[in-house]
Amino acid sequence: MNTTHAVITAIGGYVPDTVLDNAALEKMVDTTNEWIVARTGIKERRIASDPLMATSDMTVLAIKDLIEKSGIDPLEVDCLVLATSTPDRLLAPTAVTVCEKAGLQNAFAFDLNAACSGFLYALSTGAALVETGRYKKVLVAGTDKMSSIVNYEDRNTCILFGDGSGVVLLEPNHEGVGIQDNIFRTDGKGVQFLSVPAGGSALGSNEDTVNQKQHFVQQDGRTVFKNAINGMTTACKDVLERNSLTADDIDWVVPHQANLRIIDAVGQNLGVDKDKVKVNIERYGNTTAATLPLCLWDYQADFKPGDKILFTAFGAGFTWGASLAVWGNLRTRQN
Ligand code: COA
Repeated sequence: MNTTHAVITAIGGYVPDTVLDNAALEKMVDTTNEWIVARTGIKERRIASDPLMATSDMTVLAIKDLIEKSGIDPLEVDCLVLATSTPDRLLAPTAVTVCEKAGLQNAFAFDLNAACSGFLYALSTGAALVETGRYKKVLVAGTDKMSSIVNYEDRNTCILFGDGSGVVLLEPNHEGVGIQDNIFRTDGKGVQFLSVPAGGSALGSNEDTVNQKQHFVQQDGRTVFKNAINGMTTACKDVLERNSLTADDIDWVVPHQANLRIIDAVGQNLGVDKDKVKVNIERYGNTTAATLPLCLWDYQADFKPGDKILFTAFGAGFTWGASLAVWGNLRTRQN
């Protein structure tokens, strides 16, 4: 088989040590553990409480984990695509800082912002680079320090989000294994329902925007909820149909972890058994671009070569999509 696919050959992850559980949130806003668990499935999330732990630092720790487990030489990495909505700073790509700190001296690097769909978009971007034949080792990371843009006085949002980073290595494969297909969609009407209103070129930060807390995430949860279920369900169905597959052909669904009720609804709409749908939202909450790679990191032992995996995500914008992959072999220090 001559076609080049990009296959995931290594996974790394990092979550901060500090745990913010529902009991702690009960003391910060008017909420209860019971409400949060029943309405979202989240029990706790990790927070980068050290102010010096930026998005770049979490990404470096995830990459170090990947390098440690796979034994690859950092100098062999050709490119780093970093999906994030919480860059270290607005100007100067965070991915470049990561390369500097992680010793990826031969890699070019850039950030990609597609909110909670960021990792999926970055995965297909990285895969396209590998498929050209020009790049042999591409790192794709998803990292967000959501605690830097969450208002811990707003119970509509602060219960949902956490911090973390996950990264995968993509390499070429010529035996039909790897990323097979992607379907991506966007709808700009979604901006009004989920965004950080201030701090960008549309509305620069000033005293007023800070007083009105417009530098924090604001959302209409109900609208996002409905669109997320519809968007992920439709994208998954479309990618299955385009590849002449049914839900029965899929071994695992790895969905964006925004709300357990969204995940359950998408699984039901697809007709996929619950035990095939990977969930870790109870431990990390919604880590935005990091949810998918952290799911791969947590459940990598379950995936066997040849397994068909359906990824799906939905995020601000709106952005959403689904990707189909055939799992390959992960590198170990020995191979
Ligand atoms: N604790 C207790 N009560 C809360 C609460 C909290 N943390 N947050 C909201 N409520 C209240 C509301 O004020 C409302 O009260 P009311 O009926 O008196 O008006 C009630 O609970 C129901 O609110 P609603 O917004 O309809 O709840 P919901 O079931 O839609 O759950 C979200 C709210 C935010 C959990 C849910 O909409 C969601 O997960 N949306 C998607 C968000 C998302 O994924 N964002 C990231 C993008 S990927």
